[in-house]
Amino acid sequence: MGYNVAIDGPAGAGKSTIAKLVAKKKGYIYVDTGAMYRGLAIHFLDQGIHAQETDKVIKACQNAQVTIRYEEGVQQVYLNGKNITSRLREEEVGNMASVTSAIPEVRAKLLELQQNLAHTQDVIMDGRDIGTCVLPNADVKVFLTASVETRAKRRYQELQEKGIACDLEEIKSDIQERDHRDMTREIAPLKQAEDAYLVDSSDMTIDEVVDAIVELCK
Ligand code: DC
Repeated sequence: MGYNVAIDGPAGAGKSTIAKLVAKKKGYIYVDTGAMYRGLAIHFLDQGIHAQETDKVIKACQNAQVTIRYEEGVQQVYLNGKNITSRLREEEVGNMASVTSAIPEVRAKLLELQQNLAHTQDVIMDGRDIGTCVLPNADVKVFLTASVETRAKRRYQELQEKGIACDLEEIKSDIQERDHRDMTREIAPLKQAEDAYLVDSSDMTIDEVVDAIVELCK
């Protein structure tokens, strides 16, 4: 069994930024499980399926193969043999992933892949249900959060830097909607595991958060 660090938290809390840096410092492999849900979401979008068409989503799962490879230490997501990493962060992909990740068949499809990755190597894995469902015996569990305002501002800045036009209030309401969906779904909802450390990054720098988590790891 590898050494396993689980990081859960809401959208925009900085999980992937932090997890990547901790992985580098500690020599762990960074596993981004949201990217796997996004990979499946691309499959549904490419098939012209709408997020609410649950039956079609379940059927489409049968011929979707999501695989993960590491190229120069960076996670690459393949969908049926094609590298789709560059499309993962698109807004419509995130929204599709948020809705379809509430479907049990979608979660079941990815659970084994996630557990297998953690079984054989030292990983830091981020998502929504890592500490509660995917790796209940993880060595370290962190629930990383930040206020909605902070998360919206970070996302706004990120998009601005990429030259993408956006509206702060729209981003904020999108985040609130996604939080609500992720926290209230029946299966594997986003919640802090009982044995997880709570880290609120609203008033912390990236380095401070990284140091706090590194401190918790062996
Ligand atoms: O972390 P992210 O924004 O890339 O995740 C996209 C969506 O995938 C998110 O809205 C909820 C879902 N997700 C999930 O249900 N469970 C995970 N472990 C990771 C992501």
